[in-house]
Amino acid sequence: MSIVYDAAARTLTLHTRESSYQMQIGPLGHLLHTYYGRRAEGDFRSLHLLKDVGFSPVPHELDGETRGWSLDTLPQELSGANSGDFRLTSLCAVTADGRRGGSLRYVRHEIRRGKYALRGLPAAFDPDGEAETLSVTLADEALGLEAELLYGVYESRDLITRAVRVTNRGSAPLRLEKAASCCLDLPFGDWDLLHFHGRHAMERQPERVAVMNGVQRIGSGRVSSGHQHNPFLILCDKHANEDAGDCLGLMLVYSGSFEMELEQDQMGSLRLTAGIKSEGFSWTLQPGESFDTPEALLCFRHDGLNALSRRYHRLIREALCRSRWSGAERPVLLNNWEATYFNFDHRKILSIAREAKELGVELFVLDDGWFGRRSDDRSSLGDWFVNREKLPGGLEPLIRDIHALGLRFGLWVEPEMVSENSELFRAHPDWALAVPGRLPALGRSQLALDLSRREVADWVFETLVGLLRRYPIDYIKWDINRSLTDLYSQALPADRQGELAHRCTLGLYGILERLTAEFPEVLFEGCAGGGGRFDAGMLAYFPQIWCSDDTDPIERLTIQRGTGYGYPLSAVGAHVSASPNHQTGRRTPLDTRAVVAMAGGFGYELDPGKLSEEEKERIRVQIARFRELSPLLREGDLYRLTELDEPRDFEAWQLVSADRGESLMSLVLTHPRANPRPLHLRLKGLDPAARYRVERLDLFDAFLPEKPEPLPEIYTGAALLYAGLTLPRMMGDYPSVQLVLKKAED
Ligand code: GLA
Repeated sequence: MSIVYDAAARTLTLHTRESSYQMQIGPLGHLLHTYYGRRAEGDFRSLHLLKDVGFSPVPHELDGETRGWSLDTLPQELSGANSGDFRLTSLCAVTADGRRGGSLRYVRHEIRRGKYALRGLPAAFDPDGEAETLSVTLADEALGLEAELLYGVYESRDLITRAVRVTNRGSAPLRLEKAASCCLDLPFGDWDLLHFHGRHAMERQPERVAVMNGVQRIGSGRVSSGHQHNPFLILCDKHANEDAGDCLGLMLVYSGSFEMELEQDQMGSLRLTAGIKSEGFSWTLQPGESFDTPEALLCFRHDGLNALSRRYHRLIREALCRSRWSGAERPVLLNNWEATYFNFDHRKILSIAREAKELGVELFVLDDGWFGRRSDDRSSLGDWFVNREKLPGGLEPLIRDIHALGLRFGLWVEPEMVSENSELFRAHPDWALAVPGRLPALGRSQLALDLSRREVADWVFETLVGLLRRYPIDYIKWDINRSLTDLYSQALPADRQGELAHRCTLGLYGILERLTAEFPEVLFEGCAGGGGRFDAGMLAYFPQIWCSDDTDPIERLTIQRGTGYGYPLSAVGAHVSASPNHQTGRRTPLDTRAVVAMAGGFGYELDPGKLSEEEKERIRVQIARFRELSPLLREGDLYRLTELDEPRDFEAWQLVSADRGESLMSLVLTHPRANPRPLHLRLKGLDPAARYRVERLDLFDAFLPEKPEPLPEIYTGAALLYAGLTLPRMMGDYPSVQLVLKKAED
């Protein structure tokens, strides 16, 4: 069993292969946290010395016995409001007569096989029957409040999941004001925070900062996880790096407004809470009703960030994403967005598709502009019928022609949105979010549909079902291009408007749940103005998400690196686009663009008609190479070969197959120097005892000032791991390298 209850010590311990997590039922029934860290057996209660800390209150029952026992200083599993803990609150409820708080005490616990599920929310599942669930029920009798703390333990995956189910056990309505998914107290350690911030076209920039005394917070109030902060963070020991040291990850399986807060308190303890954004949130529970929080995925590793990332990658691919495409080989696609923007017709699309087919592309994706009267981004969202001006014959003949070429067909939609200039809006103005009495803010000239309303969500679902039934569509790109504002629903009573943001997210999940179940063969790709909703909630339904509207490969190195700390390469939509790049104007070599796009769901986003014959030939080779490497790229273990903050002139990463038989190292030179230091790097993840043959070493677009000495054809794994290899000196604008190694037969 990976969950152990010690009745004498009153401890509950969760073990994964490399980590242990322990809690203890305190003398008065409070659920205290005792340890989360590298795997160790033991009773960790003694770590926490009782100390009388001035102005930290003591439960009434313990006065006279000890003044050192305080909820304000002891680590806890779920901190309740108004209970004598002045640090971050995880749960706050208010009764109809104004009693406010969440002073929780133990009622019972249960250990069971399998993984709990959440109502209406995506959550990790148990593909190989190894998960166990711990449920600990706590209650605040004075409020009629019950909180069931749910823990899922994946021993071999080194992952612990958490969620809370809150129930109103009273006889009158109870209003939740805060319901975090988890609270994690780390009493000791010297931590840095690694988080992923950004903006449109510059998502998930990794930033590592020291934890400060006081509160630090990241989050989103956009009813979308957003470009600005990602619902994933890592706490790492000051000395931890990519390959060594304590790291603790926390990822929310949630795509709506969220918050993640850290507080280093007066005693130097660190508290981390994460969940639905509490500002503006409230949720009323009638007697007997329950509320499920989104799930949090926790991982602790003692051996650095690379190991931590790989645990998340595997979990997302194998135990979170339900799509049958998650582990499957994906078609190489070509998307017409950067090729045509809104300006296309049947002939143009078909000529792009024909050229794409000749390059080896397998899926053609028709992006924005095919519907309603859409000729720019100011109209027609909601009118999901074909644009007869551009496609007078309709979609059928276009899809038929594209299928006849031997290509699959994909379509762009933005179903959560409505343009004011649309038939849908004219028919149902009240379906859009707006505060009565004032004009709502626009984003990209559009409004958001109120998906908290059943009839609106049903309409979106039926519309998509209609499209997918009518047309033989193989792929859907599901976009959303604004943040939600003016939160007010015509369908909710005044005292329930605080539920709207979360209800919209639940509405979206409900649609996705039904749609992906009904069309399991369709490949869905998420998108939100690029990567503005790149989170584990969306990845439960969609195996891939467009990573950023910035397709410049040099910018993408940072965006994709940041994304890869939590999310697998197989989830990262990445395309080769034209040069000069449309977003930055930078010129980069075609093969370097492909090397970077191969660190993701590989595709193209350019007009192949504008390519030279030589470029076309290179693309054919790229696609063939991608096909060959695709299992490794999709499922290989990822190793970042450079440290985040070290000064360097290149970015390099490596993928290694599970049996360590095969590996691909990729490198992009980002800064050529007049008199550079040797380009030396040590590989990772290989079997030191094995011998590896250099299958391929490509130096793409490199001007080599000296004729390079040939590299050995065979290396021992140990030589590559410990001595490393020095690459020839390369000059020029952004040359790149791919090195393929295969275990040599003895
Ligand atoms: C968003 C997406 C782009 C493209 C446009 C179309 O910005 O990220 O890839 O689909 O919308 O309007």
